[in-house]
Amino acid sequence: MTITLGTPLSSSGTRVMLLGAGELGKEVLIALQRLGVETIAVDRYENAPGQQVAHHARTIAMSDPAQLKALIEQERPLMVVPEIEAIATPMLQELEAAGTVKVIPTARATRLTMDREGIRRLAAETLGLPTSPYHFCDSLEELQAAIDGEKGVGYPCVVKPVMSSSGKGQSKIDGPEDVKKAWDYAMAGGRVSHGRVIVEGFIDFDYEITQLTVRAVGANGDIETHFCDPIGHVQQGGDYVESWQPMPMHPAALEKSRDIAKAITSDLGGQGLFGVELFVKGEDVWFSEVSPRPHDTGLVTLCTQHQSEFELHARAILGLPVDTSLRNPGASAVIYGGVEAEGIVFDGVDEALQVPGTDIRLFGKPESFTKRRMGVVVARADDTDTARANAKLAASRVKPRTA
Ligand SMILES: Nc1ncnc2c1ncn2[C@@H]1O[C@H](COP(=O)(O)OP(=O)(O)OP(=O)(O)O)[C@@H](O)[C@H]1O
Ligand SMILES: [Mg+2]
Repeated sequence: MTITLGTPLSSSGTRVMLLGAGELGKEVLIALQRLGVETIAVDRYENAPGQQVAHHARTIAMSDPAQLKALIEQERPLMVVPEIEAIATPMLQELEAAGTVKVIPTARATRLTMDREGIRRLAAETLGLPTSPYHFCDSLEELQAAIDGEKGVGYPCVVKPVMSSSGKGQSKIDGPEDVKKAWDYAMAGGRVSHGRVIVEGFIDFDYEITQLTVRAVGANGDIETHFCDPIGHVQQGGDYVESWQPMPMHPAALEKSRDIAKAITSDLGGQGLFGVELFVKGEDVWFSEVSPRPHDTGLVTLCTQHQSEFELHARAILGLPVDTSLRNPGASAVIYGGVEAEGIVFDGVDEALQVPGTDIRLFGKPESFTKRRMGVVVARADDTDTARANAKLAASRVKPRTA
């Protein structure tokens, strides 16, 4: 799809609706604003980061199909751009099928990636991509059998609610004594109350990467697939704490990563940027999961690429050309809230930015939690080791506290 861009807040406005307006959505919104797009930021709470920079802010329960339908029919955007997984995606499929709105990248992609089951079965069973061994279970007994059975995943393994993100409800099981604890933890941490989990054999990887992959319209009008340089990252408790780009890789592993990324994104289709999560050991690569949207570990691209992942997404969905090339090495380090309070303040930003090559994003979230991501430092340098050290040093100098 190619596009003629209009003037925001006039009858010619090119209207794009973000479903989810967190820190990633905020950067997509800024990228769209720069192209003169009229933006509508939707979230489930008021003053979400992206709502603070959009032309219009709307607050609804996006998991409620009736509310979602009513809002899209009222606003009539050219397209809706999901930023989170917890959306009434069957309703998006209905609205897309009825021709009411275009869903980025496709309504099917948002539905398949909304829970771990749809995307895992597609990747492993339909496309035959390498993944960890896995089973889905609905009870503690089924979980135990999925570990011990003839085709069991064995120990160690990882249990995750089928509907959860950022490591919520996820834990590693090292032996029989951990099984019940992991089950109870998953039941408490899932997004919805039904108790389905995935149990995966533990992959003893050397490192993990995010392969940012863009489907964009090329000069001849066909969709082309572009790859960014691989992003390395460290996760703690299933949540990303630092990332860097480029991650040096064995050429064979890089080629396999891109083949996997191409296969899964081609199947999901549409236009836009995807974050393909992969585990790597030597020359072996396993598919883990994919976000049909910018990825949190890709915040690093704000300081490493000519076009950040957010600009790439904005361009790709509008049918504009993209440039995925690296500008310089860099790293990102997360700033957590550290306190449970509303309207917090940040000390030490000046000291943080004394560190060479650094920049900061404070997301403006109205409420802080101890483990809520409130900001990020990005650092560019001549090599990723220096960038990582500088990003972490600068992030450690930022002190969030109660006002
Ligand atoms: N089978 C596995 N073997 C080894 N490590 C794993 C496995 N599954 C998950 N992990 C580790 O846990 C992290 C989080 O897992 P996963 O990406 O599935 O969860 P998530 O809740 O979707 O996280 P996010 O939303 O941050 O991407 C992975 O990046 C990896 O470090
Ligand atoms: Mg993940």
